[in-house]
Amino acid sequence: MLKAPRGTFDILPPQSHKWAFLENKLRDVSKKYNFEEIRTPTFEHSELFARSVGETTDIVEKEMYTFKDKAGRDLALRPEGTASVARAFIEHGMAQGPLPRKFFYIGSMFRYEKPQAGRYREFAQYGAEILGSASPYSDVEVIMLAVSIAENLGLTGTKLLINTIGCPACRAKYRQDLISYLSQQRSNLCEDCQKRLMRNPLRVLDCKNPSCRKVTEGLPSMLEYLCNECERHWVKFREILSSVDIEYEVDKSLVRGLDYYTKTVFELVWPPLGAQNALLGGGRYDGLIEQLGGKPTPGVGFAMGMERILSASEKGERPIRPVEELDFFVVTQKSGNEDIPQRGFLLVSKLRALGLSCDFDPLDRSLKSQMKHADRLNARFVAILGEEELKKNVVSIKSMKEGWQKEVALDAIDTFVQEEVCHANY
Ligand code: HAM
Repeated sequence: MLKAPRGTFDILPPQSHKWAFLENKLRDVSKKYNFEEIRTPTFEHSELFARSVGETTDIVEKEMYTFKDKAGRDLALRPEGTASVARAFIEHGMAQGPLPRKFFYIGSMFRYEKPQAGRYREFAQYGAEILGSASPYSDVEVIMLAVSIAENLGLTGTKLLINTIGCPACRAKYRQDLISYLSQQRSNLCEDCQKRLMRNPLRVLDCKNPSCRKVTEGLPSMLEYLCNECERHWVKFREILSSVDIEYEVDKSLVRGLDYYTKTVFELVWPPLGAQNALLGGGRYDGLIEQLGGKPTPGVGFAMGMERILSASEKGERPIRPVEELDFFVVTQKSGNEDIPQRGFLLVSKLRALGLSCDFDPLDRSLKSQMKHADRLNARFVAILGEEELKKNVVSIKSMKEGWQKEVALDAIDTFVQEEVCHANY
């Protein structure tokens, strides 16, 4: 039997209703913060990610789905969305203003990771990016957006972890010191960190391996190396966070797995999720646009794993329970009279044309099983057409919620819909 590839999954009803509910909610919250939707291609030139996420990162080195197209171009399924937003920003000349531009996106990302709970090979992210603002108010704005999404979904007990990784100028000295210290302890580092040591020593700081943790425990942190400008940003950023009552924890080992970050980095974790407890992660990337060939433009943003948010919501205080209702189900009584299913089908089209959601039974089943089906679909009204009704040119309408049943003339169905159905809708 053919199965979905490892690390991917189907989203079937009723789960798909929860996804739709979440997406609507995300669009609503984004609008409140004035973020506009951007849609970029699912695949890009591989070079885009090598030059932004970074050649020495796990994402680019080990996890990217790369392929050549028929013309020999090197392409990659996007492992994340920030690089594409930056590329689009440059390609469409958005640096010319007005600035800042605030974008959000929802879409599939692809990483060849070891699948486990909360970690997939195709997963969906909601991301938000502000381009063209160096202000720490923008750092806080994206965090407020992230926190308000979690609150909106009833997730209490989230923890905001923040750190700063400075700018290339102040980080260079830190990097150098880190390399010389870690080199002395090389044999105590895990195999991956031994490889990372010269190329990406900051990543050693967030390695979860206990022996690496031991090595990095007493190390000086980036906070001790910040230049004046990065220090000012760090202080102001935390001041604004406190002014809007957002609690945070400074995590000096938080460095994030993407190379484009400068200054602020953050994650929102929800401990009950277990090993993969980061609901979202983000930070500032003031050098990214320039690095990709654009006019120097600062940026800040985050991305949230939608599977993780949904699984947290299931475990949270207010699980998403979208009420899926059908306005009408048309039931046709079984008989030899071909007119009945035909009239039923016309009634379905009419009700849909009136703007209602409506379904029917094409399988010619008994009245009882059609009623059961209507019930399963959570229909508000059932319209019954049988020999009797046809003779009188009426339809029997039953309110599934209130239990009443009445006959309505077929040519007066519009009035009934207006008065009884739409009225009850609003
Ligand atoms: P990231 O930390 O790589 O950052 O991913 C953000 C979020 O995506 C994670 O916190 C997690 O919820 C989810 N995620 C990542 N990998 C997987 C996976 N394999 N399976 C399920 N969920 C996953 C970024 O992608 C940056 N682009 C965020 C950003 C935006 N920074 C600035 N702007």
